[in-house]
Amino acid sequence: SGADTPPVDGVDFVAVEPNTEDAVVIPEGHEQAVVIRWGDPVVDGAPAFDFDNQTAAAQAMQFGFNNDFAGLLPVEGTPNAFLLVVNHEYTTEPAMFKGYDAEKPTREQFDIALAAHGLSVVQVQGEGNSGKLTPAMGRYNRRITGTTEFVVTGPAAGSDLLKTSADPTGTRVLGTFNNCSGGLTPWGTVLSGEENFNQYFGNAESVTETVAAERLARYGIEGAASDRKWETFDKRFDIAQEPNEPNRFGYVVEVNPWDPQSAPIKHTALGRFKHEAATIYVTDDGTVVAYSGDDERFDYMYKFVSSRKMMPGTGAAAMRNNLTLLDAGTLYVATLTGDSPDEIDGSGTLPADGEFNGTGTWIPLLETGEDGRGTSLVGGMSAEEVAVFTRQAGDKVGATKMDRPEDFEPNPVTGKVYVALTNNSNRGTEGKAAADEANPRNTNKNGQVLELDDDHAGTSFTWNLLLVCGDPNEADTYFGGFDKSQVSPISCPDNLAFDSKGNLWVSTDGNALDSNDGLFAVVLDGPRRGETRQFLTVPAGGETCGPIISDERVMVCVQHPGESDDATADAPVSHWPDGGDTQPRPSVVAVWKSA
Ligand code: FEO
Ligand code: CA
Ligand code: CA
Ligand code: CA
Repeated sequence: SGADTPPVDGVDFVAVEPNTEDAVVIPEGHEQAVVIRWGDPVVDGAPAFDFDNQTAAAQAMQFGFNNDFAGLLPVEGTPNAFLLVVNHEYTTEPAMFKGYDAEKPTREQFDIALAAHGLSVVQVQGEGNSGKLTPAMGRYNRRITGTTEFVVTGPAAGSDLLKTSADPTGTRVLGTFNNCSGGLTPWGTVLSGEENFNQYFGNAESVTETVAAERLARYGIEGAASDRKWETFDKRFDIAQEPNEPNRFGYVVEVNPWDPQSAPIKHTALGRFKHEAATIYVTDDGTVVAYSGDDERFDYMYKFVSSRKMMPGTGAAAMRNNLTLLDAGTLYVATLTGDSPDEIDGSGTLPADGEFNGTGTWIPLLETGEDGRGTSLVGGMSAEEVAVFTRQAGDKVGATKMDRPEDFEPNPVTGKVYVALTNNSNRGTEGKAAADEANPRNTNKNGQVLELDDDHAGTSFTWNLLLVCGDPNEADTYFGGFDKSQVSPISCPDNLAFDSKGNLWVSTDGNALDSNDGLFAVVLDGPRRGETRQFLTVPAGGETCGPIISDERVMVCVQHPGESDDATADAPVSHWPDGGDTQPRPSVVAVWKSA
């Protein structure tokens, strides 16, 4: 069990108990402060936030809505200064506008929502030994929104599948949507996953031709009007008028935050799906491996292995080289096989060999040459089709249907790779895939964390389930073999991060145990492997995301505090972070040890 051995460095705080507070609750001996919140100025000239009189022009210069991924990059030559890069995943109009009429949004609300999506780059400044960070108007500060021009690279760039009336070249896309999690690259850029992009497009039902309709359906693009009704303001969101516009979203995007004038990139060589994120591992010879999960019930785990090598350093030549690393190489999808001879019955009971574990294979789908041309490795699909309809390529090769792969991230200390499989309420239900050894519970409400020992640039791996999440008092949970009476309950793992000692940190979204979402530290090695301690909780209705774990501070994004089916701006149920009768605002928070 290991509970009688000394606590592990970094996982030695007093665990925060489950709760339903309208607050960020942190361990004793720590302090916290908001770093930046929705509406705070990001670029020079941005007005102060005015909830009741918000404009699109203001929003385009202010911090966007629903912060998800966060990355912190030190600014060379400026002590204690960093670029904070944050994704703004989506907008929640009823929480943003008093009197919002979902049947008849206004043009100004549409324009504000477009501007509230995308990413923010903002310089932040530390103070002495405190973990506190304060935004500053630095030269790199930038807003990327739903109308910023992106350049498309990889085998689908210029393809007929990406051409629209506004962009007959199929290489220039306005905006990025639903950027969920992400990753920092060793060459100083930021990757971000375009996730639930299906929700922005209306009138999919106008498409009746079988192949086209199947492609839309496989990505969840269905029905008549969209919830936001953006198609009534701009025809690019109307599939009846611009059937290819959805094919221009669902990619891994790369932003070079050190060049505020640069066009961000959409990398089609990594395929198109509901990318949660992409995270990088570099092998000894400089080969770059990008791991990415497709966050959908029964969807797949992918990796991309570059053919070009990373150039070390931060100079212009290195950046030029490294910005092309994700444009040539091979895209793979994963199959996993359990090693237990006994049947997996869907209850979560450990198999007779004592572990949910087995082997896996990476099946190649698409090879992209250094000239940017793709070669399909999937029968019946062209290279462009594999790049754009990647889910269907995964279907054809029999990839393993997973319980919603969220963050998929290598541990920089050990090289092992971890996947948060957040939940899958449909596992084992009628007509759906039954439990298997990697997804061992039917109607899986609490999710699991998968550990891979991957031959990074190669095609094989071994795997085991580190955590089978839930209430540790329940028999269907597993905490790496650690004493379950000594761990925090954890449900719906979403984002992953690592501290400098190699401990795993997990943030949650959708806690199914009747308490708030939070952030947990998990021991990976030694006798305390599997020990899970809750470090903080976020306000009720909020999701914990974007964790950044450094020796100086822990940072999280608090996304959609107070979100619920009936919360509106007219009747908010959260007043975090400003208290009183204020509106809730998605915000980034820093937590540090008291002096
Ligand atoms: Fe936006 Fe998969 O979470
Ligand atoms: Ca989210
Ligand atoms: Ca086993
Ligand atoms: Ca997520």
